[in-house]
Amino acid sequence: MSILRTKPIDDVLAQADDAGGEDRPKLRRRLGSIDLMGFGVGIVIGTGIFTLTGIEAKNSAGPGVVISFAIGGVVAMLAAFCYAELASSVPTAGSAYTYAYATMGELAAWIIGWDLLLEFALGSAVVARGWSGYLANLFGLPTAWFGEEGSVVNLGAIAIVLILGVVATVGIRQSARVTNVLVVVKVAICVFIVVAGFFFVKAANLTPFIPPAKPAEEGEGGLAQPLSQALFGLAPSAYGIAGVLSAAAVVFFAYTGFEAVANLGEETKKPRRDMPIGLIGTLALSTLLYVGVSLVLVGMVSYTEIDEGAPIAAAFQAAGANWAAVLVSIAAVAGLTSVILVELVTLSRIGFAVSRDGLVPNGIAKIHPRWGTPYRMTAIVTIAVAALAGFLPLSALADLVSIGTLFAFVIVSVAIPVLRRTKPALNRPFRVPLSPVLPIGSALACLYLMTNLSLETWLRFGVWLVIGGIIYFGYGRRKNRLARKEQETEHRAADPDPDGFPPARGGQPANTK
Ligand code: ALA
Repeated sequence: MSILRTKPIDDVLAQADDAGGEDRPKLRRRLGSIDLMGFGVGIVIGTGIFTLTGIEAKNSAGPGVVISFAIGGVVAMLAAFCYAELASSVPTAGSAYTYAYATMGELAAWIIGWDLLLEFALGSAVVARGWSGYLANLFGLPTAWFGEEGSVVNLGAIAIVLILGVVATVGIRQSARVTNVLVVVKVAICVFIVVAGFFFVKAANLTPFIPPAKPAEEGEGGLAQPLSQALFGLAPSAYGIAGVLSAAAVVFFAYTGFEAVANLGEETKKPRRDMPIGLIGTLALSTLLYVGVSLVLVGMVSYTEIDEGAPIAAAFQAAGANWAAVLVSIAAVAGLTSVILVELVTLSRIGFAVSRDGLVPNGIAKIHPRWGTPYRMTAIVTIAVAALAGFLPLSALADLVSIGTLFAFVIVSVAIPVLRRTKPALNRPFRVPLSPVLPIGSALACLYLMTNLSLETWLRFGVWLVIGGIIYFGYGRRKNRLARKEQETEHRAADPDPDGFPPARGGQPANTK
């Protein structure tokens, strides 16, 4: 059946070296492990820690949000091990999408590719709006054009997406440089928050560490209720252990994006060594900073008093350290800039991989001869994200980013034991320890976190997958590269030498099951 058609690993590796043909310029191998970590931290630390921490501490977990961040970090780390094995042995532009194509078949690959587009498009649009809001805070700009309240069109969000879209189009090297500078600022401010904030921590704010469970307020039941509570017929509640777990699923948003590193496989100088360092280093650093920053925040202010808009800056203001509040706001603007930039670069790389395989029209994957970037794809995604960020109030959709990411992680985790069985001889410079226990544990942990997201998030995710299904069955299934190869092979078998030309160049026929 064609939907189970897999793309041979050798084909994936050859395509990475060949970038689609002799006459087409390749993506350039210019990045090292420090660049990869720069990209990773650049995309990971963002609105999750700067805003979601406050919202979840106040409404769902209390000081226990620190535990939520730790849980999210452990689950993301399990998935990162799986990513590291696949990214080091199959370095390619498509990451989870390509791994699924090689292991689970075309339909699974398309679902993942489509799902990743959702994650990065919505993620960067949400962050762009957050960026705009922080800018408004800093300079007193009108919220009608830069904020959420009464906003018709968010000019700040549109402007930042368009500017960074140009940086991403002109070249990965420039993008990496800009990102590295911003990342240093962001890491430094997180360390500053932990060290300076420590002096304002009051032990009384940290007890009880996990506030006792209480019935959910109006608006938190119904479709806003986590799937797990609905499945087990539990009365909707906030706080308690269940609150900490549902906050863990929501703050998982803060870890999303680290897998962007895996998409740069074709642009990394020594992917087999640098990929694992880049992925695991990114997560270890982010988890440490998140736990530290969230602990200081809930220690500085009682969770019931936390400001939902700019929690960390407001905590310093409340402590009388206004200068620190301004510093934090500046760093938030800088930090969110790097998140948007890396998300845009990643989005265009995933789109590049999908269109190179012909699941969407192939011409979109063309690489610019001088810039060495998939410029058409980058331009398309930039315009789409600018439109989303300008016109849609996206804060409610952060959960959708989490569910999309967790779903992709389930597939990546499952791909490890599948690939070890089907491709035992593949050179694996990095091997997940304790396989298959760790990958299966990773898949189950991601699934479990997904069940802690709301019913409406599940519904919206379902709608997105249905739209993807329509595109696949309407176009990609028949027009993709492997399908065309199969048609050619069948054609040649029926009419072996129609006009005396030698057989067409190209890899082996598709591996249909
Ligand atoms: N992980 C990114 C953030 O927290 C998307 O903003």
